[in-house]
Amino acid sequence: MIEEREHWSSSLGFVLAAAGSAIGLGAIWKFPYIAGQNGGGAFLLIYLVFVAIIGMPVMLCEITLGRRTQQNPVGAFRMLSPAKSHLANFIGFSMLFTAVALLCFHEYGWAIVMLIVGGLIIRYGWTSAGIISIVAGFVILSYYSVVGGWTLGYIIKSFQGELNYVTEAAAANCFNSFKDNMGWVIPLHIGFMLICSLIIAKGVKNGIEKWSKILMPMLFVLLVILILRGLTLPGAVKGVSFFLSPKFSDLSTEGILTAMGLAFFTLSLGMGAMVTYGSYISREQNVFMSTLSIILLDTVIATLAGLAIFPAVFAMGFKEAAGPGLVFNILPAVFNSIPGQFGWLWAGIFFILLSIAAITSGISLLEMLVAFLSDELKWKRNKAVWISFTAVTTLGLLSAVSVSSWGRIEWLHQALVKAFHIERGSFFDMMDNFSSNWLLPLSGLAVSIFVGWIWGSRKAVEEIRHGSHNFADVHLISLLAGLKDDASHNNARYHVLTLASLWGIFIRFVAPVAITIAFLHEVGWLKNS
Ligand code: PHE
Repeated sequence: MIEEREHWSSSLGFVLAAAGSAIGLGAIWKFPYIAGQNGGGAFLLIYLVFVAIIGMPVMLCEITLGRRTQQNPVGAFRMLSPAKSHLANFIGFSMLFTAVALLCFHEYGWAIVMLIVGGLIIRYGWTSAGIISIVAGFVILSYYSVVGGWTLGYIIKSFQGELNYVTEAAAANCFNSFKDNMGWVIPLHIGFMLICSLIIAKGVKNGIEKWSKILMPMLFVLLVILILRGLTLPGAVKGVSFFLSPKFSDLSTEGILTAMGLAFFTLSLGMGAMVTYGSYISREQNVFMSTLSIILLDTVIATLAGLAIFPAVFAMGFKEAAGPGLVFNILPAVFNSIPGQFGWLWAGIFFILLSIAAITSGISLLEMLVAFLSDELKWKRNKAVWISFTAVTTLGLLSAVSVSSWGRIEWLHQALVKAFHIERGSFFDMMDNFSSNWLLPLSGLAVSIFVGWIWGSRKAVEEIRHGSHNFADVHLISLLAGLKDDASHNNARYHVLTLASLWGIFIRFVAPVAITIAFLHEVGWLKNS
């Protein structure tokens, strides 16, 4: 018997779950330090622009695809794809030709990749975009869960009073030996996956929604506590101004493009996570307002995270504290230096917060795999959950053992170098680079082109309109002025300027062009001096 598809019990449930997916290590760990390095408030401003002109339209696409089809990403693309697409065929055959050319240059590894992807595209057309997003989610979850495991480990360490470092160097030392200590890292990685799996096994309503409703408010309260502690320290203002004052001179082209990549990652776009969550929404819900709420929550929390971190960092005199190591290398020392007996508590609170953020994001990635397996192979939820758990945990082990060097998996290293002639970082870095810089933008590009041009913005708007009349039927100026038209007249056809028409332009032109530029830059084909 096929199980009936579950739905969120309310809009709030959906918004909290989706915000949980968005708010993760990206918002709390990456965002503050990247903003710090790229002109503080100036970066924040650019980031907000990208969130508005690309993040928001693409998220609306993904959620709409999910709600329309009530399917996992692969099923969603399949259901709406035309029988034949010249564009897909063109891309597929170009890849096959490239593969042949690569073979002539004895680049066998890349040739095989091109053959497989080109073949997929020719065989499955636009459905292969769904397949790519599933692969992206799978790969991301495998190493995301390793970092999730670290955050769990740091909770234990803070409550054991072990994070009592006075200097940055001492904290960094501890982190370096921690992440290479397999006795910690492997059980923690498995533990993180286990927590996500146990929640998901309970289902959409009783698992994901219920836990999001508990964990998200908790995250917010913990964040506020940390902000209050940080801001009341003498000297905290310097941190606030470091984070918020716009220094446009520090903002490079590099920084601008980074802002776009970050917006994609922190909003959980390009991985089918939002398509999956969207597939559990019923047609009466207002998808436009939900999207807006998710975006606002994610942005507010990312900004608040900066306000929880920088005032404390500056007040405690850790000026040079910007960089990727911020969270694990420096913050333990910062929290420990806060006067009073409670250094361990501040650190503990921070790492609980970070773990919550990571778990609610991990859940969404895992749920996407589970939805795929249960929709496509008709597996029962439990079977899908535990098989996904095993597959992701196993791939993750390779990342876990290779964070700082290939030493433990040298055989794999040799094989990869031989096949692809590239030597870049560890397996962990490779997975991150492959998914964040390649799969994610490509699948984001596919989503926007598919919705804008193939399925068509007109049909998408018809779908969004269910439950969100203002989106397509009210002139934007009237809407902003609070002079709403009477929706019952259904005079949408006569309005030129509506939220829907703006959205259509962004999704057909602005997003594809911007994503392509950022992609070419990320992979190094578009160098700026
Ligand atoms: N948005 C999450 C973060 O900021 C990462 C993520 C991406 C989660 C995609 C789910 C899907 O950490």
